[in-house]
Order: sequence, then structure tokens, then C-alpha cells
Amino acid sequence: MANGLVMEKVGVLVVSYGAREAAMIDAFTRSSNYNVKVYVADKQRNPFNLEKAEKHIVIPDLNVEAICKFAENNKNQIDFGIVGPEKPIINGVRDLVEKRTGIPMICPLKRYAIEASKVQQRLLFQKIVPEVNPRFKIFNPENYKTQRDVRKDVYDWLDELKNMAVVKPDKPAAGKGVGVWGDHFTTREQLFEHFMANFQHGAVIIEEKIEGEESSFQAFCDGKHLVPLPDTRDYKRAFDNDKGPNTGGMGSYKDVEETLPFMTKAERAKEVEIVNKIFKEWNIEDKTGLRGIPFYVAFIHTGREPKILENNSRPGDPEIINILPVLKDDFVDVCFKILEGNLTRIELEKAATVVTYKVPPNYGGYMDHFPELVNKSEIGKPVDLAKAYKLAKKFEGKMHVYPASMELRNNEIYALKSRAVAVVGVGETIEAARQNSLEGIKAIEGGALWHRKDIASKQHIEKSIKHMKELRHRW
Ligand code: GLY
Repeated sequence: MANGLVMEKVGVLVVSYGAREAAMIDAFTRSSNYNVKVYVADKQRNPFNLEKAEKHIVIPDLNVEAICKFAENNKNQIDFGIVGPEKPIINGVRDLVEKRTGIPMICPLKRYAIEASKVQQRLLFQKIVPEVNPRFKIFNPENYKTQRDVRKDVYDWLDELKNMAVVKPDKPAAGKGVGVWGDHFTTREQLFEHFMANFQHGAVIIEEKIEGEESSFQAFCDGKHLVPLPDTRDYKRAFDNDKGPNTGGMGSYKDVEETLPFMTKAERAKEVEIVNKIFKEWNIEDKTGLRGIPFYVAFIHTGREPKILENNSRPGDPEIINILPVLKDDFVDVCFKILEGNLTRIELEKAATVVTYKVPPNYGGYMDHFPELVNKSEIGKPVDLAKAYKLAKKFEGKMHVYPASMELRNNEIYALKSRAVAVVGVGETIEAARQNSLEGIKAIEGGALWHRKDIASKQHIEKSIKHMKELRHRW
């Protein structure tokens, strides 16, 4: 009840993978304009989502038929749906749910799920903004009869790239995934082995490895307008100082303004210009297809023109967790505007945010690298989030705790295999936000969870600033 008036009831279907969607659900249930009921199709029994949901269903593989059935069974209560993870978007969840139930969905149509094919993605950019592509070559199994011929072409291309190469399978999660010279292999033989493990599943791109600093660009889109969100910086590698294997992202930061400390305003403006150009030229077929966050672009800043590492048609995890807690607008109103095609701006608090993920002992091979740092007696034990929740309450909006790959079992919370729980800190500076995030992280006990210690640290940011200065002077 607000001002003695009964608030309008709104039902929202949330297709959920982890902490990103817990942050969305939190933003919905913080609504002051609506009485929101969430219907969650979830990957696991996420304790946060279970507590908030009107109805909750577990669909471990997030298959679109099961999601659609859940939507159909509750369609009289649901006003719209929103999707976080890429797999159901690629598999056409919006197309199916809208067709069968009439519930409008906030995510792109299947044909705009750009991450479905890295080859098509590069070719699209080549047509519209060729300058964002690194030098690349597509290797298609159909064009080769023998492995010897493949090896010859691969090695010839490596000659041209002076070995500075990135191997990318066309389809997500095919074979061994993305491999980078210097990180995943240091000899051509190793690179070729990685390449062949992917090549047997389909086309593979080998592209030039670009030196630079990364930023994550995201934008809300109603199909007609693009509303850029502030840039964020993701921490992909598992261990401190950007060592260890790539992960889903160990944490991220956002500065007070829309740019990042190592970027100039002109570099930010260039990002906006590039994404707008792609949006305008790609969006000719219909004006609702690119709905949601169809542009979550990983840019790399080189000191000259930025390049695009990849684009996804979904919000970033953790990157959207840097944005939602400081959204000044009612998230339900933002969603209605997206559906109506009249989202032209959004307002955010003037604050920095830092997300730190706590992850299980095996994540990123941590136990193998640092066995002495793991409290073995805690492995597989329940995780206690109660203290962190209590602290977050005390911090009054400056700290939020969002479980991800966690499961409620017999009233206890267990970490599963992937990133376990995200804590976002909000502050007047990046450092203040970082301290708030770390306070929450410290309060989470049990399960032998660990986290990167250098997310948004002064030293890490200084290193990025110095690197960019060097790069700008190089050209
Ligand atoms: N932060 C990486 C991702 O969302 O894919």
C-alpha cells in the first residue's frame, strides 16, 4: 500500500541462471510503484530466488519447452518475462513463449542471438564496422580433405600473425572453447591440438591477439532506442594479477561516471558510436527484435580504435550486478518502457559499485594451484549467508548479497560447482565500494569458498591506467 492506494499487481517471469537474476529479482521486488510477484524458472534451488518467488521451478538445463510450459501454466498471472542466460535466448525462448502464451518477453528473438555463431558475428561486424574486427580467418571443415592441408593453412596464417593468435570455435561450448597464445598454449603444436579439438565440431576462427585493456559495454534496448549503461570492467581470470584460467568472471567494477578510470571520454564516445552503428544497420527487419540487452559488448582498448572481442545478446554476469542496485528508476517501469518501445533514458545514482564473487574450492583449478590455502575440512559443508545478509541490511543499500550456483537443501545452503555468491558494494568511490563488497565477502562463512583479492584494487586500476598511457603513446 503506497499513500493509501492499492499498488498495481505485476507478475514477472524470470528465467534465471545465477546471481545476475537474483539481482534482477531484487530490483523488481524493491519496486515502489508495483506489487511485484516473480515466477522463477531457475537452474537450481537458489535460496534467494526461492524466498522471493511467488512460484519457483527448477529446470537444470533451462530447456525452452519446460520454460514455456511453466509460463503457460501461470500465464494469467504473468505480465511479461525477462531472460538472463544466453542458452535459452539462443534456443528461441522468446519466440516460443510469445507465440504460445502471448506473454511478451524481454530478450532478443532467436535470430538476433548473436553469440550463437562467432563466425556470423565477425561477418556482421565486417559488413557494418570492419574496423572493430581484429585480423581473422575462418577455417571451415567442409573446405578440407586432409589434416595436412588444414595444418598448412593454419601455420601459414600463424606466420602472418607472428603466432599472436586466438582460437575461437564458431559455436559456444564446442570442443575446448577459446584458446589464447601465451595463456593456453606456447607452441604451434599445442595451438594446433586445441584448434583440432574444436575443428572436429565445426568451423573455427583464428584471429589476431589484441593487446589492450578491456571494458564491458551494455545497453538496454526497446527495439527502437539504445540506452547505453555505464562501462564496467570484468575480471575474467581465476587468480590475482590476472593469472590462471578464464572463468565466467570473478568480479567487476563500475566508476561513478559512465566511463572507466583507464578510459578517456573519447574512447567511451567511440564505443557508443560503434554500437549505435551496428544497432541501426542490423535492426532493419523489425523494430522489436532487439529487445532487452542485445548488446553486451566486450571491447578492448588499444590506444587507437577499440576492437570488439565479442558480443552477447544478454546482460553480463557480473556486469549487470554493477548496474541494477544503483538504478534510480523503478525497474518495472523500465521493463514496461522496453516493451512499449519508448525507453529513451534511464537514471542511475552517482555511485561506484564493485562486485566480488566467492567461488567453490575447485573453481578455476584453485585447489590444484593453492592446496595449502584450502580449508579441506570445510569442503562440501553448508555455507552460512545469514551474517552477510544481516550486514547488508545494516549497510542500507550499500551492500547486496546475491547467491548464484547455490542450492537450498533441508534448510541449509550448499555451494554447487560454479560461482557461488556475489557481493556488490556501493560507494562514493571505487575504493569505498570495494571495501563494502569485501566486508560482505568476509561475513560469508563455510564451504571452503574463496575469492580474488585484487578486484578493483588501486594497484590493478593503476596498472590499467599505465598500460593505456603506454598504448596511446605507442601509435
Ligand atoms: N562476465 C562474463 C560474461 O557474462 O559472459
